[in-house]
Amino acid sequence: MSTKSNAQTSGATSFVSVEGLTKRYRDDLPPVFENVSFTIEQGEFICVIGHSGCGKSTILNVLAGLEQPSEGHVIVRNREISGPGLDRGVVFQNHALLPWMTVEGNIAFAVRSRYPDWTREQIAVHGKRFIEMVGLKGAEKKKPSELSGGMKQRVGIARAFAIEPRMLLLDEPFGALDALTRGVIQDELLKICTATQQTVFMITHDVDEAILLSNKIMLMSNGPRARIAEIVVNTLPANRQRETMHHDPQFYRIRNYLVDFLVRRSRELSASHGDRPDTGRVPAATTRLVYPGLDDGAAAPVAIARPAGPNLKAIA
Ligand SMILES: Nc1ncnc2c1ncn2[C@@H]1O[C@H](COP(=O)(O)OP(=O)(O)O)[C@@H](O)[C@H]1O
Ligand SMILES: [Mg+2]
Repeated sequence: MSTKSNAQTSGATSFVSVEGLTKRYRDDLPPVFENVSFTIEQGEFICVIGHSGCGKSTILNVLAGLEQPSEGHVIVRNREISGPGLDRGVVFQNHALLPWMTVEGNIAFAVRSRYPDWTREQIAVHGKRFIEMVGLKGAEKKKPSELSGGMKQRVGIARAFAIEPRMLLLDEPFGALDALTRGVIQDELLKICTATQQTVFMITHDVDEAILLSNKIMLMSNGPRARIAEIVVNTLPANRQRETMHHDPQFYRIRNYLVDFLVRRSRELSASHGDRPDTGRVPAATTRLVYPGLDDGAAAPVAIARPAGPNLKAIA
C-alpha cells in the first residue's frame, strides 16, 4: 500500500475548513472527539466511517450549524458558520419531516424557503422531479404517518436534493432502505454529483457504499477522544459502477483496508491514546493520506477519482 504525507497547514482557501474541533458533553468526561481538523474542496465527495458513538453525527451537525463545538470552528467559503443555512442540505438518520404536511408539501416547503420568488407551479414542478427521483411517484399526497420508514427517508433525501445546496450533509441516509431502493438512489446520487460537482459529506457504515460514491474516506478512531485516523484516497476510476467495480482488484484492496480498520485498528488506535489525562490534547499531527487501492511500490498517487481541484487536506 502506498502512503503519502500531506503537509497541508492552511485551509484558508478551501471550500470548507474544519479547524481543531473538540466536543465535550460533560466537563467530568473526556471529549467525544478532539482536535479534529480537515478541509473539503468544492466537488469532493467525502465519506466518514467509524464505529457508533465516535462522534460522526456530532461533526455533521456542527457542519450543519445545528450544534456548537466545545472548541474549534468551521469555515465555509471563508466565513465562519454561525447556524443552519440553505447552502447546506441535511439528511438525518431519522427523517425529521413535518408530520402535518404531505410528501409534496414537505418538499414544497423547503423549495419555497430556498427560492422565495418562485411561483407555486415552479415549486411544484421542481419538487416533482425529486419526488420521482427517489421513487415516490404516487405517494405525493400522503402524510409521513402513512409512509414506511424507508419512504420517509426518501422524502428527506428528495427534500435535501431539491434545495440544491452547495453542500449535502448526509447522515447514514440509506441505512433504512431496502437494498434495491438503496442501489437506485446511490446510482442517482452518483449521477447528480458527477454532473453537478456537488460537494458531499456523508456518514455511512456501508464500506461498499463508501467505495462506490466517495473520492475520499475519512476513518475515525473509536471514542472517547476520537480523531480522524487516516484518509483513504479512493483510486478506483471515476466511471465506476456498482455492478462492475468489484472486477477491479483495487476494490478488494480498499475494501479489506476499510474492514480491517473497523474490526481491528480503530480500537487499537483508540486504546493507544486512551491513557492520557482528561485535560490532555491530542498532539498536533498530520493525518495520513493513504492509497490502499494501489499496489505496493506504486509510488505516484494517481489522479483522484472525481477531479475537483486540490485534494482534501487534513491538518489534524
Ligand atoms: N446531546 C447529547 N448529550 C450527551 N451526549 C451526547 C449527546 N449527543 C451525543 N452524545 C454522545 O456523544 C457520542 C457521539 O455521538 P454521535 O455523534 O451521535 O456518534 P455517531 O454518530 O458516531 O454514532 C456518543 O457517545 C453519544 O452518546
Ligand atoms: Mg450517528
